Amino acid sequence: MALVGCGSAVPSASISNDQLSERVDTSDAWIRSRTGIAARRVAGPDEPLTAMATGAAAAALAHAGWEPQDLDLILLATSSPDDLFGTAPLVQGCLGAGNAVAFDLTAACSGFLFALITAGQYIASGAVRRALVIGADQLSRWVDWDDRSTCVLFGDGAGAVAVEACDAGSTGLLGFRMLSDGRRNGCLTLAQTQDHVPLLGGLTNQRGGFAAIHMNGQEVYKFAVREVPAVLGELLEATGTSADQLDWLLLHQANQRILDAVAERFAMPPERVLSNLAAYGNTSAATIPLMLDEAVRDGRVKPGHLLGSSGFGAGLSWGAALLRWSGPGTPAAG
Ligand code: ACO
Repeated sequence: MALVGCGSAVPSASISNDQLSERVDTSDAWIRSRTGIAARRVAGPDEPLTAMATGAAAAALAHAGWEPQDLDLILLATSSPDDLFGTAPLVQGCLGAGNAVAFDLTAACSGFLFALITAGQYIASGAVRRALVIGADQLSRWVDWDDRSTCVLFGDGAGAVAVEACDAGSTGLLGFRMLSDGRRNGCLTLAQTQDHVPLLGGLTNQRGGFAAIHMNGQEVYKFAVREVPAVLGELLEATGTSADQLDWLLLHQANQRILDAVAERFAMPPERVLSNLAAYGNTSAATIPLMLDEAVRDGRVKPGHLLGSSGFGAGLSWGAALLRWSGPGTPAAG
């Protein structure tokens, strides 16, 4: 598959570290030095995930030069759906993409990369020609805004990438690895609350509902700086690629110190490590396509560029993909 278009959308409201320090006991200096984050976007009550995801999707369609009816598949990576039964069909409806099947995929901050790889398999099998892969999250709705150890980290956003069948020579997915370790699930959860209510007779019902994000930050940090270089290194070796062949490192944006540690491992100079953490914080499944869209539109990422990408987060889950950006106008498979 070729990567031929991208788009993004973020809420208009931005909250700076100084503003946040009016609510919780923190400071701009602490947040910047520990994470690299300066501000984050936060969706208001009238800005559902569907609208943000649709905005990113429409921008990617326009960039690729496609009509909504051209789409065969829409994958929405999210952990914060508007509807637990699935939000991708709502996006499909808003876009008017009547020929596409649409469904959600949940893998927290690895979600976009996992969805991109999944779309690649449908395309490789011949089942799908054109797909839109969206990463969108609104974790602002799921953090405890009184917990300074988590609320400073997350923000809201959406990004999308248009992918289509192409000849082998123009492929944008040159290799990938995906991993999970549920034994370490407790490090980072957005789990159901235990709310037991009498039902009838002697039966008790567990009422649905979710507790705020709970995170063991140090464990997640250690996991990321150990596993991300390992999985990227394995992928480079398997594809016969050396780190200096990469034009960019395109990593999940969780913490600048994690980006720096991974870059150091591959001796990548900081100017080749894409980062927009300062403006957006960790937008979960959205970070990779949001970052890619910014770097494509400002001309840093150019057609033919090779990107080493890695997503990691709750699950625990992590993975890597070797990507080549094509951009609009790439000849589709004959
Ligand atoms: N402001 C000021 N002080 C704070 C804050 C804050 N916002 N948060 C924590 N502190 C304090 C702590 O209470 C602690 O104080 P103490 O020493 O008196 O007990 C001190 O700062 C140090 O706390 P640590 O947790 O050791 O801080 P650390 O340097 O580990 O940084 C951080 C914390 C930024 C969360 C880091 O561990 C991290 O980035 N972890 C990875 C998080 C991550 O990437 N999560 C998302 C994964 S993606 C997904 O799937 C959603």
